[in-house]
Amino acid sequence: MHNVISPAIFYWGTPVVIITTENEDGTFNMAPMSSAWWLSNHCMLGLAQASQTTKNLLRTKQCVLNLPSGHMVDAVNKLAKTTGAINMSPFKISTGYRYVKDKFAHTGLTAAPSDVVRPPRIAECFVQMEAELVTAHDVGQGAGTSRFAYALDVKIVRTHVEEGIRLSGHHNRIDPDKWRPLIMSFQEFYTLEPGKLEQSVLAEIDEEAYRPLIGRAATSEVNPSSS
Ligand SMILES: Cc1cc2nc3c(=O)[nH]c(=O)nc-3n(C[C@H](O)[C@H](O)[C@H](O)COP(=O)(O)O)c2cc1C
Repeated sequence: MHNVISPAIFYWGTPVVIITTENEDGTFNMAPMSSAWWLSNHCMLGLAQASQTTKNLLRTKQCVLNLPSGHMVDAVNKLAKTTGAINMSPFKISTGYRYVKDKFAHTGLTAAPSDVVRPPRIAECFVQMEAELVTAHDVGQGAGTSRFAYALDVKIVRTHVEEGIRLSGHHNRIDPDKWRPLIMSFQEFYTLEPGKLEQSVLAEIDEEAYRPLIGRAATSEVNPSSS
């Protein structure tokens, strides 16, 4: 039996990516995100327009996609509800975000120089992909959503991986038995092991805060039913 529901969010479970970018003043920012999918050697990033990461990526056309594994959940929790943008959107103000200028100092994570792009890699992440912006598409504009976003197509130009997750005997392959990405599902954190990881700071935000404006009126239409 299926029920018709009206979810405020559709976060079904995707790996967390910590994106490093360069600020206007030459310092570096980092931010967690998870609306990312991979095709060939490209990644499509779904990012809020007002985020510092988005502004930096559109301006410099460079970033590093750092993939945290389960052991980095504390650092991701420290980054949750922070922004490197001084001017915050009404959504961020109402959901308790705060401005953090130096997120490397804030998290204690270590910057490692990149080979091709200016933003640094995050040393603690087992996977670090240097990338360049190819195109940016508006998402949500005119669709009645309460927040605007971009779908940013980035091309991976160099990939660094921790020795311990490589498939033995194959220089260019990952051993999926050894790679344990940090997964965000409905604001909570998981790995590929059973069970939820520790409390998620992001999950302090009420799911309803994300509901597109056009959908708010529709919630009352949804009654328990089956299909
Ligand atoms: C686990 C996690 C996943 C997130 N996923 C996204 C996402 O896919 N897209 C997005 O725009 N923001 C996402 N966020 C929120 C951003 O991290 C947030 O907008 C942050 O303020 C961006 O930082 P910046 O303004 O310094 O770039 C996520 C946050 C967390 C903790």
